[in-house]
Amino acid sequence: MNQDSFNKEDLIRMLNADEDDRIVLFKKSREITDLQIGNKVYLRGLIEYSNVCIKDCLYCGIRKSNKNTQRYTVSDEDVLQCARYALENNYGSIAIQAGERTDKIFISKITSLLQKIKELSNGKLGVTLSLGEQTLDTYKEWFDAGAHRYLLRIETSNRELYSKIHPDNALHSFDKRIEALQNIRKAGFQLGTGVMIGLPYQTIENLADDLLFLKAMDVDMVGMGPYIEHLETPLNEVHHLLHSRQERLDLTFKMIASLRILMKDINIVAATALQAIDKMGREKAIRYGANILMPNITPGNFRNNYKLYQDKPCTDENAADCSSCIDVRMNMIGSQIGYNEWGDSKHFKKQKQV
Ligand code: 5AD
Ligand code: FES
Repeated sequence: MNQDSFNKEDLIRMLNADEDDRIVLFKKSREITDLQIGNKVYLRGLIEYSNVCIKDCLYCGIRKSNKNTQRYTVSDEDVLQCARYALENNYGSIAIQAGERTDKIFISKITSLLQKIKELSNGKLGVTLSLGEQTLDTYKEWFDAGAHRYLLRIETSNRELYSKIHPDNALHSFDKRIEALQNIRKAGFQLGTGVMIGLPYQTIENLADDLLFLKAMDVDMVGMGPYIEHLETPLNEVHHLLHSRQERLDLTFKMIASLRILMKDINIVAATALQAIDKMGREKAIRYGANILMPNITPGNFRNNYKLYQDKPCTDENAADCSSCIDVRMNMIGSQIGYNEWGDSKHFKKQKQV
């Protein structure tokens, strides 16, 4: 097999790997990670800024129509406090994530927060944004204000499946999603995307296509995790179609390992959703090729309301609990933490040099 040009059949075989073949797959991806990235994990202190959302994705617990969610937005002072916390604890970077809003007040608020974060950290803190689909002008405004990485998951690269898990209207258009990804790159960001794994109706062929999509888009970072049902969402009506949680977890590990073999020098996130299924899920993902961890530093009282899916971990803890926990966990698997480093995607850096 030519290692640099995997085709769909190769990928399907990797995703279908049985117990024995899995071991070979994971070993290979570990070797590549050590060689290309090193045994280092970079941190992004995650601030779940707000669960207010204008969209209605059929799988998501904070969708607009879920009336059982208490909506919140973290105050400016608390956001800056989180940034200070990340700085003092040598995280190197933060990530700001929220439900989608495209109104002027929201856009300007993010811009001013970014400027303040840059100021308080003397430009030391790297900033990743995950704030959904915006116009090119908005992306540019936020890039100029100091953010430099942006995550927007495509969720699935299959147009038909995309339409099954989103409402049928202009606000949830597959084409607009693709356009947004292109605009993120145009604005200057390191581009991150990703998919959910184990969705109802999703096939192994779909997932192989997802991997080829990530490769074709030449992304710098990927965040992907298992789909986890949320009882108050429409997609839960077809929960009988789901694979078991354990199967979704295993498939996620194979996706991560295969992606690492396919795209050797990108950043891959060990998604929080992994931990909802397996207490050691994120650590295992790191063993199999992931290299980014996003410890939650959202103020404790809001965490319970950013419930994208059932059984979301660490919703009743504080940032300090997470901090000591990361050290212990990374020690356990023998990984080093890249304290005080931005840990940018090597893939992005290489492209910039040519
Ligand atoms: N299960 C797993 N991941 C989910 N997300 C949203 N809802 C769910 C769910 N039920 C993910 C989406 C989104 C990211 C912020 O969270 O991929 O892009
Ligand atoms: Fe908020 Fe999907 S429900 S972006």
